[in-house]
Amino acid sequence: MNKKLLFLILSSITLFAETTMCYKENVTSISNIDDIKLDGGKCESQNSLNEMKESGWNVDDINISKNPDGGMNYIYILKNEKQYNASDIESIEQKILQKLENRKVEDEKRRIEEIKIKMSREGKIKYVKKCQSCHGENAELKALGTSRPLVTLNLDQMITSIHEYQRHAKDNGNGVVMTPYAKSINERDIKNIYSYILTLKPEEKKENK
Ligand code: HEC
Repeated sequence: MNKKLLFLILSSITLFAETTMCYKENVTSISNIDDIKLDGGKCESQNSLNEMKESGWNVDDINISKNPDGGMNYIYILKNEKQYNASDIESIEQKILQKLENRKVEDEKRRIEEIKIKMSREGKIKYVKKCQSCHGENAELKALGTSRPLVTLNLDQMITSIHEYQRHAKDNGNGVVMTPYAKSINERDIKNIYSYILTLKPEEKKENK
């Protein structure tokens, strides 16, 4: 979000408005009414109207009536509208930006998780159909005794090995058995199969349970 815009929006919002009611009964002279200590509410017989105004209060409503004893009764409804100040805005802005950032990270994590799930699902179909019979249900077998258990390979090793079989560059004795399978899969298949094999790792399996 544009920082200046955010600042403008926030600074125009009232944080909260506090209301209080102060009064003075039976006032006989109104010449110094603004300096008379008012009773009730936040005035607490300590603050005059002028003093209240100095500390941010504004008169929202006024009610004047006649007192049976001859003077006048004054009732003030005062409001204190606290505006966001610069440091409030700074911290609110930080919170908003942090939230946006967190959401982005969460979205990204979710997206990656979904891709992983999709890849390993597709990989599973291929693996079970084309590879499992020799490499084992948990990719734990040494196929015909001459391959490493696939579950121990990282992605690089997996890709390199498959590429080598594809161009007849690898043979631990049974290369001829593996080569046609290497040739039957493409780059995407390799990554998908690898994703699936990752889910077969003993520690991954435990986590998924
Ligand atoms: C008919 C049995 C068989 C099938 C099916 C098979 N493989 Fe193999 N695979 C082997 C053998 C045997 C080797 C070792 C070859 C050698 O001696 O060089 C091997 C080796 C490999 C290696 C290299 C391991 C290492 O130690 O570097 C990878 C990776 C591999 N296979 C992946 C696959 C994938 C992926 C599939 C399914 C698309 C598959 N294999 C299907 C038998 C098979």
